[in-house]
Amino acid sequence: MNGPRCCAWWRDATRASAIDPEKVSQLSGKAVLVTGAGGGIGRDFALAMAAAGASVLVNDIGTSVKGEGSDAGPAQKVADEINKTFEAAGARAVANTDSVAQWESANRIVTNALDAFGRIDVVINNAGILRDRFFFNMSVEEWRAVIDVHLNGSFYVARAAAPHFKSQESGCYIHMTSTSGLIGNLGQANYSAAKLGVAGLSKSIALDMAKFRVRSNCISPFAWSRMIGSIQTETDDQKARVEKLKSMETAKIAPLAVYLASDHGKEVSGQIFAVRANEIFLMGQSRPLRSVHRAEGWTPETIGAHAIPALRAHFYPLERSQDVFSWDPL
Ligand code: NAI
Repeated sequence: MNGPRCCAWWRDATRASAIDPEKVSQLSGKAVLVTGAGGGIGRDFALAMAAAGASVLVNDIGTSVKGEGSDAGPAQKVADEINKTFEAAGARAVANTDSVAQWESANRIVTNALDAFGRIDVVINNAGILRDRFFFNMSVEEWRAVIDVHLNGSFYVARAAAPHFKSQESGCYIHMTSTSGLIGNLGQANYSAAKLGVAGLSKSIALDMAKFRVRSNCISPFAWSRMIGSIQTETDDQKARVEKLKSMETAKIAPLAVYLASDHGKEVSGQIFAVRANEIFLMGQSRPLRSVHRAEGWTPETIGAHAIPALRAHFYPLERSQDVFSWDPL
C-alpha cells in the first residue's frame, strides 16, 4: 500500500527537527481535507500539507484496492504520525473514516473538518478503488463501484464544501484524475470514464466558482502505490512496464499539491497537471483540430467522400497512456 519513501525532501519533512519555517508558513492557518489519505499518494499529501503548517483531516475507510472491507487503522495511523511529527510546526490532524461514495457520509467528512478546525480551505479528492475488467465482461456492479468512489465521491465531497468556500470567498480543490481517462488504457472502462468525468467536474467547478475566488485543478499522478501493484502483469511487456513504475515515488506528487493549496497558487485554476517522478506536465484540454464545411450541408455520401478524408490525417491512434508516455520516468 505504501510506496517507497526515499526522496530527500520526504526524509527532511518527516524529521521534526528539520521543520523548515519557510515551508511551514506556506499553509499555516489553513485546514485541508484529504480523502483516501490512509496510504499511497493521499498519505503523502496529508504529511506534506502538515509539514507546510496545515491542519489536516485524514479521511480513509481503509479498504482494499477493490473497495472491499474497511479498517479505521490507516487513517488513524496517519493522523497520529502527523500529530507526533509536526506538532512543533503547528499542524494538527484528525482521522475520519466516512466513505466519500455516499452523499450523507461525504457531508460528514466536511462537517468533521469544520468541527475539528473551525474552517476548511482545501479539499483534495484522492480516494480511489479499481475494478479492472475488459469492457465486454464488466459487470454493472464493477461499473457502479468505481463511478461511485471516483466520480460521485469527488462530486459529493466537493459539493459539501462548496457553500463554505463560497461564503468565505476562497478555497482550493485538487482532484486526482488519470491518464487512463485522459489518454486511454485497457480494461478500465469504469475507471477511465470516472477519471475523465473528474476532469470535467474540476473544470466546471473552476468556471462556476471563479467569481468566489475558488480554484479547482486536477493532478494526474504516476506513482508506485498498491493501486499500480494491481496492474495486470501477464505479458513480458506489462512486467517490464511495472518495473519502471516502481521507481516513481508517491511522495513526488505532493509538492505540486502543496503549491496549488498555498496562496502562491492563487492564479492557477482549471488546469490538468501530470506528475511522474521528477517530471511535471501541463496536460492538453480538448479543442477543435480541424473543420470541413459544405455550404449545402452534408449527406452520408459527401461525409464519406469529403469530410472523412479531410479529417483522417488528424485522427487519434488507439493509444494507451503508456504509448504516449513512452519514455522511462526521469
Ligand atoms: P491507494 O489504493 O494506495 O489509495 C487509495 C485510498 O483511498 C486507500 O487508502 C483507500 O482505503 C481509500 N478509499 C477507497 N475508497 C474510499 C472511500 N469510499 N472513501 C474514503 N476512502 C476510500 O491508491 P493511490 O495510488 O494512492 O491513488 C490515489 C489517487 O490517485 C486515486 O484517486 C487514484 O485513482 C489516483 N491515481 C493514481 C495513480 C498511480 O500511479 N498510483 C495513477 C493515476 C491516478
